[in-house]
Amino acid sequence: MLIRALLASAAIGVVAFAQPASALSAADPLAPTGRWSIPERAQARTPPMGWNSWNAFRTEVDEAKVLGAAQAMVDSGLSNLGYTYVNIDDGWWLRRRQPDGRLEIRTAIFPSAQIEGGASSFRPFTDALHRLRLKAGIYTDIGRNACSQAYDLHSPNLPEGSTAEREVGLAGHVDQDIGLYFQEWGFDYIKVDACGVNVYGPDNPLVAAQGYTPVPPLIDQASIARTDVAAVKGLYESVAEALEHHNPDGDYILAICNWGSADVRAWGKDVGHMWRTSGDITPTWTRMLHNFDSASTRALYAQPGAWNDPDILFIGHGEFDEAHLTEARSHFSLWAMINAPLLISYDLRQAPQSLMDIWGNADVVALNQDPGGHQGIIAYASDDVQIIVKTLADGRKAAALFNRGLGETEVTLTAAQLKFAPDAPVRLRDLWDGTESAFTGETAFTLAPRQTLVFAASGTRVLTDGLYVSEIPGAVNVAVDGVVTPEPDPVIHRMRNAWGETRGSGERPTYAGWGGARADSSPYDEALKIDGQGFDTGVGVLTNSRLEIRNDGFARFQAKVGVDDSTRNTRDAVRFVVYGDGRLLAESGPMRFGQAPALLSADVAGVRLVEIVARSDALTSDLPLVAVWGEAALRR
Ligand code: GLA
Repeated sequence: MLIRALLASAAIGVVAFAQPASALSAADPLAPTGRWSIPERAQARTPPMGWNSWNAFRTEVDEAKVLGAAQAMVDSGLSNLGYTYVNIDDGWWLRRRQPDGRLEIRTAIFPSAQIEGGASSFRPFTDALHRLRLKAGIYTDIGRNACSQAYDLHSPNLPEGSTAEREVGLAGHVDQDIGLYFQEWGFDYIKVDACGVNVYGPDNPLVAAQGYTPVPPLIDQASIARTDVAAVKGLYESVAEALEHHNPDGDYILAICNWGSADVRAWGKDVGHMWRTSGDITPTWTRMLHNFDSASTRALYAQPGAWNDPDILFIGHGEFDEAHLTEARSHFSLWAMINAPLLISYDLRQAPQSLMDIWGNADVVALNQDPGGHQGIIAYASDDVQIIVKTLADGRKAAALFNRGLGETEVTLTAAQLKFAPDAPVRLRDLWDGTESAFTGETAFTLAPRQTLVFAASGTRVLTDGLYVSEIPGAVNVAVDGVVTPEPDPVIHRMRNAWGETRGSGERPTYAGWGGARADSSPYDEALKIDGQGFDTGVGVLTNSRLEIRNDGFARFQAKVGVDDSTRNTRDAVRFVVYGDGRLLAESGPMRFGQAPALLSADVAGVRLVEIVARSDALTSDLPLVAVWGEAALRR
């Protein structure tokens, strides 16, 4: 294909190249690959939905509770809405049989698992779920021991026997266990926890007291520097490989559960279908905020087949119970808007209608399950109020107006926030009460404390002939994010300790990911700005990053590029490069802090994958250089 570069700028000269990508070093992570580098996964094309035992029952799980939930999902119609996975969490195991290492199920709580010869199998259980047209999920740990063996010592359902018999996690048994779970027992989904490489260090008195094998921790939740990111990732990759091997039909889901540690928020998409972005949710408003914040800024890291997971829903419990329906609806709306997996965790055998109406709100579920797979973007941010906007596959928008605080508040929604024209009518439908309304320019709503309003919105697009890249995060893969040293992300609500009250000095979230690519924001949560010119729309990145963008029939990629005013590195230069299916299409000259934005435009007609690279070959400063793809868009 012929290469054409179009660059028009007052500040920067035009450079056109016709160099084949193969001339670039294969070892160069910024070299274009010409292909979408995340595995094309058959499952989880939309966020997984279903039920999980943990928040409802912890280790007091049993077959009647799980199958009762499954039956209720079918009888109530929830399964028709997409709630299909029925997942057993921690607490199901009896022991790892010696010497062959086969796992045994606690048949006292899963009676159907008792099979001839004293062995046990979940096959009758998964068959029962499959007969209901549901899918079955199981739980394990990446290390030797599971979380309950450290945190639920009171439980009657902990593994029993010798040290080796109680080592029910995957360590040393990845292939054996995955084969057992998926081929022999017929599971469809696995959650892989990480306590085994976190809490069983030689210094933990529990280890000697319980006679566990000491395992030097790979994860230190309080310090990314003391976490072995590569080792943790490598362990999960070995699970992904075993899953692929034992599921040639691709019918499986890998849910990574290492609570946002080990920089998983950056690499989870490459390894699993979903990855926890934070520690465990609790049934409290401020912990819900914390978990929401851990995923809400990560829109560019999620796409069909790979989702940010802020944890299981806690609707029905504590501050999200029947007496707190405003909070419960907010929790559900927020999870829906950011494409979180929707896993109910409640005793569905006796769920009140008011809660069923929340999980069963077909319009809100439809936002979450929209085939575009575009996570909502934070259009307005403050600690008090947020506006989240999500692009739907049919061109409409969903907007959530979220009152995080304890006071009633007025929230103004503008057409501009929806990327709709300010002078044409915008139609809104409230997805909780069905009210329809219309406005031009802007409109205001009064929100009760902790209320979230969710609307489907239709209007006239500002960009009439295309899509802004920040509107379609589900079509973007952050292949290389330019983060050199993983740093804790500071923009996450720090709730009062969920465990331990106000003792000590407070919990500091250390989830890495600070500086990762952002839609409509700089990587450091600032408004996008080049040489004093602000951009409402665009992609903020660190230099030495490469983003892959699927092109669904557009003819032109265009952006106004430059160094972001928030950069701390005001010395070095960055070049902006656009590739199409691996071929160089357009490139800017070197750009520095204080230079006016340059218009970069590339002919992408017929191109399937656009790659946009911000490259700094020689950095003289250790300070990060922040780059902006302002108003980045695919146009007809
Ligand atoms: C961890 C996980 C939870 C749950 C428990 C089970 O805390 O994050 O979701 O699976 O372990 O013990």
